[in-house]
Amino acid sequence: MVARTPTHRIRRSADKDPDSSWDVSTETIDDTRGNPSDHTSFSPLTGQEDQWWRHAVVYQVYLRSFSDGNGDGQGDIAGLRARLDHVESLGVDAIWVNPWYESPLNDGGYDVADYRSIHPLFGDLGEARALIEESRRRGIRVIADLVPNHTSSEHAWFQAALAAPEGSVERSRYHFRPGRGVEGERPPNDWQSVFGGPAWSRVADGDWYLHLFDVTQPDLNWSNEEVREEFLSILEFWLDLGVSGFRVDVAHGKSKHPDYQDVGGVVDHLDPAWASGGHPTWDRTEVHEIVRDWRGVVDRYPGAMLVAEAWVASWDRLARYLRPGEYHQAFDFLFLQSPWDAESMRSRVDEAVEATMSVGATPTWALSNHDVVRHLTRYALPGDVDAGEWLLGGDRDLLDLDLGRRRARAAVLLTMALPGSVYIYQGEELGLPEVHDLAPQVLDDPVWRTSGHTRKGRDGCRVPIPWTRGGSSYGFGTGGSWLPQPPEWGRLSVEAQNTEKHSMLHLYRRAIDLRRRLLGADLTFAWLQAEADALSYKHGQIVSIVNFGSRPLDLPEGEVLLLSAPLEGGRVPVDGAAWIHAPGHVSPVK
Ligand code: NOJ
Repeated sequence: MVARTPTHRIRRSADKDPDSSWDVSTETIDDTRGNPSDHTSFSPLTGQEDQWWRHAVVYQVYLRSFSDGNGDGQGDIAGLRARLDHVESLGVDAIWVNPWYESPLNDGGYDVADYRSIHPLFGDLGEARALIEESRRRGIRVIADLVPNHTSSEHAWFQAALAAPEGSVERSRYHFRPGRGVEGERPPNDWQSVFGGPAWSRVADGDWYLHLFDVTQPDLNWSNEEVREEFLSILEFWLDLGVSGFRVDVAHGKSKHPDYQDVGGVVDHLDPAWASGGHPTWDRTEVHEIVRDWRGVVDRYPGAMLVAEAWVASWDRLARYLRPGEYHQAFDFLFLQSPWDAESMRSRVDEAVEATMSVGATPTWALSNHDVVRHLTRYALPGDVDAGEWLLGGDRDLLDLDLGRRRARAAVLLTMALPGSVYIYQGEELGLPEVHDLAPQVLDDPVWRTSGHTRKGRDGCRVPIPWTRGGSSYGFGTGGSWLPQPPEWGRLSVEAQNTEKHSMLHLYRRAIDLRRRLLGADLTFAWLQAEADALSYKHGQIVSIVNFGSRPLDLPEGEVLLLSAPLEGGRVPVDGAAWIHAPGHVSPVK
């Protein structure tokens, strides 16, 4: 059956309506994949859509900041369940939920005290199961977040290790080492924590333990068979509960060189000196064996997948994680970190497409997540300003949020038609900027403390999101919000944007809907001829053109499907983008 759905055609003639450059006439396009704008027509998941992740849109939920169901100022599973209509209205295929386990929450839940329970702040296992089932009925999968590099120091294993003597079985699950110096008073080596400061802390009997992140996140010893077995069982536990896979935290971590040698002056593992492996703690060959073991469990569950969070030096290294029998996907931080610049974006797209396809995987595209400055704010700053450093007190006049918003809208059209999957971080569909002016006393991220206040941390992208124009915490909950929201949050709320014809929210919904209908599973992607400072490509039935330059661009021939901004004299404005319907063949350039 061929469904026919209205689409947009731009009126090129002058029109009195000031809004005319956005206007549409009713056209139809062929739709061979059903009509996904009618979300109730999604078929419930059957488990047969085995490779769904290859072309999916995944929505990242930072639970604590999504929606608060019980009025305690903290987001929770009940809040998420109550807002599933919003998630479904976006048309996404899956939700990735950041860690929801029992935890002291010293690192936003990436410090897990019990891998088989839900933090009472967030709900319980019954609620998690209900979330998975309700989502599934709506055609949406749930992906959990697995944290295998370290536990919390409150985990029963670490507590047992503290109570046990040096050299005990309990300590062998972690990395306990004697110190250097006459009294063992210096750390065993020069390794540094990612959050700042030494990666070793000393316990009462004089032994030292390794923590590559916070002092409350001791690293597990993955040479220990019991650790390996335990994680196979944890995978099984959640897959049995119904999750469709895992985002794997620090996938490039876990394994450590048994000699614990110094790294010398080259502390940063992304330094070119380490580019081809050989670092004692990161991106080691052994991590590949671990994921191959995991696949033995995961592959028993149809449609289950693993997506790697791996910060490695190059695509050469990252592609190794995507070889058959390893991760199904990996995040592309090179693309995420690209400046707003045609050449850079293009080369990062090329690298990702080539590298993933060379191993039979598909790329992923993300612009933001819970660890980075929101992209709208990054794009609002001059290209030579490091957003992370700027947060600490950089010149506020450098921030041009209108510019950031225009670029963030164009970035939707840049990324959503690329081959592969898209990961959306909650709130980007509302065009939320980073909250850059959080007062030091409300900061919760251990990075702020551990770095000795030289890095502000990630709280600014984790501020609870707004649902309504007014009310307590703009609809986030009835009891305030754990981080303060800026006063303009109401204008950016879902409620406000639902009634605005050209809101960011509608742009996301429309782009996801078109992507679903017009891209299909085919990966034929080609760059098209474009002016300097512009990018244009064709994938499926969509031609995307993005203007990174300083003057408006001619619009390619064809039916206009979507615009990030009104045309200027029939042309794509600076920092704007357009999608054109291209059902036939278009000659690529190389
Ligand atoms: C990566 C996570 O995304 C981040 O939030 C966390 O702090 C570290 N891994 C440590 O688990």
